[in-house]
Amino acid sequence: MDRRRRRSGALALAACLGVGAAALAEGPLPLRAVGWTNPKADVAAVLTTEPTECYAPTDALRAPAEIGRAAFRTPVLLGGQAARAGLSCESCHRGGRGNPEFLFPGVSGAPGTADVTSSLFSSHRGNGRDDPVPIPDLSGERARLKVAPQSLEAFIHGLVVEEFDGREPAPAVLTGLADYVRSLQPQACPPSATRPVSVSGLLDDVDRATAAAVSAPDEATRLLMIAGARARLGLIDERFAGPAFAAERHALRAADAELAAIAGAVRSRRPEARQRLAAWRERLSPLGLQLGRREGQSLFDPKTLRTAVEGRLPEGAS
Ligand code: HEC
Repeated sequence: MDRRRRRSGALALAACLGVGAAALAEGPLPLRAVGWTNPKADVAAVLTTEPTECYAPTDALRAPAEIGRAAFRTPVLLGGQAARAGLSCESCHRGGRGNPEFLFPGVSGAPGTADVTSSLFSSHRGNGRDDPVPIPDLSGERARLKVAPQSLEAFIHGLVVEEFDGREPAPAVLTGLADYVRSLQPQACPPSATRPVSVSGLLDDVDRATAAAVSAPDEATRLLMIAGARARLGLIDERFAGPAFAAERHALRAADAELAAIAGAVRSRRPEARQRLAAWRERLSPLGLQLGRREGQSLFDPKTLRTAVEGRLPEGAS
């Protein structure tokens, strides 16, 4: 088999799909986020730690900000190429902050930058120029941010609909995203700047997204919250790769299939949907216990992930 030809075919395909071309060309990605992480960085270290969130909603903002928090982590909020690649707001603004190692071929210049008028993501905004700028820390000093708090709705609407070709977001989702960003502030940063990426952290996101789904004011918002929970389950699933983790993946996929069925019940306005969602949430903590037992051998472990990342180097490279 002519590996070189196959690889350049994969490259061209990756380029037109808008996924991490450089990474794809070298073999299967252990995690999708490898495709938008600077390959010159310590990829395993970057993907097993994350910035801690500086989030302190006021009591009045808590419910909408929780909707926004989940939407921020949901790829299908963004449309087109970004959603297909698995990108969400949080891919660039990790933990509501920045991402110094973000590197997306065709969208980034130096690591940590992105061109938010890139025609790759947008059929509206593409200006045909390559003008990537640093991804700002949304939890940084207010004085250093460009968008005034009262303009966040309009700015984020433009991002979702024009820049990322997303569908018109439900009003509660848009307000929620703006309230989430308003609830990020430097005074709320925890003492430790980073924390490990973990099953419990991702399941906490699932728990909160599904709580937001239960109390969502309308169907479109409820469906987006469920999609957000499913996306977080997917991020756990990809770290339990390989035959050794068949039982864990089975449990995850059964939970995901039930969520998909609940989304179907929401769509067809079946009254039992809410009850099923509440019952589903009850089963999250046993799932967490089951997954937590094997977490240390999975791709949540930096050493294991490092081996998997190195394993995709071209044959004969070592
Ligand atoms: C591909 C990476 C990327 C994604 C995905 C992304 N952003 Fe950004 N974001 C940026 C960059 C780069 C800027 C700086 C733009 C500028 O300076 O013109 C930015 C700026 C912002 C700002 C303005 C910060 C300021 O200076 O006041 C907000 C708010 C924001 N993003 C929120 C979001 C939300 C909400 C989403 C999801 C709907 C999102 N971003 C998705 C890269 C990204």
